Amino acid sequence: MERKTGLILALDVTDRMEAVAISEKVAGYVDAIKIGYPLVLSTGMDMISQLSKFAPIIADFKVADIPNTNRLICEQVFKAGADAVIVQGFTGHDSLEAAVKLAKEQEKDIYVVTEMSHPGALDFMQQVGEGIAKMAADAKASGVVAPATRPERVAEIRKIIGNELSIISPGVGAQGGSASDVIKAGANWVIVGRSIYQAEDPAMAAKKLVDEMKEFL
Ligand code: C5P
Repeated sequence: MERKTGLILALDVTDRMEAVAISEKVAGYVDAIKIGYPLVLSTGMDMISQLSKFAPIIADFKVADIPNTNRLICEQVFKAGADAVIVQGFTGHDSLEAAVKLAKEQEKDIYVVTEMSHPGALDFMQQVGEGIAKMAADAKASGVVAPATRPERVAEIRKIIGNELSIISPGVGAQGGSASDVIKAGANWVIVGRSIYQAEDPAMAAKKLVDEMKEFL
């Protein structure tokens, strides 16, 4: 994924027309659009190819299964037109390697969740975040997903993975994180949902974030 603005839109709306309208408005400000279960379950898998006209698509299905099932899932998602898939890391190295192998064969990307951005991630996930980051680097994934709500964790994870892997970071705006802080901490992209798609003027909200990050990219 090429970094021009440092912004990824998390498009968690559930209406096809709304999804297309927002994507059209913000296309010039985002490097990718992340879509997940809310949109795909309500509209269908063809939403992926429809939105790929506007930007590369990251499919946030947080895939968490055995190696063979991970491979089968990723195969379908890439076939539908996605450029990248987000997978969970807690399932272990073999599940991750199956997804990465397939992605490499198809010149696509896999991003691995290290820990999530909500408070409940502290219950279980944070304790294994470093280990998952190390495994993602060993497996040569394209990058990891790390929380903008905790820039100090992003900095920690950057130390572990080095500069080969990217960090894409959700939690800016609605969940309290700051775009410039997390970029300064070592993230390559911020992922922003509600503060863009619920804004009165989504394009203006996206532009503001891009301007805020510009000097730190
Ligand atoms: O609306 P908001 O900007 O909070 O959206 C954040 C997006 O990032 C949501 O789609 C959420 O599912 C996703 N996400 C997250 N934490 C992760 C991985 C994905 O918040 N670790």
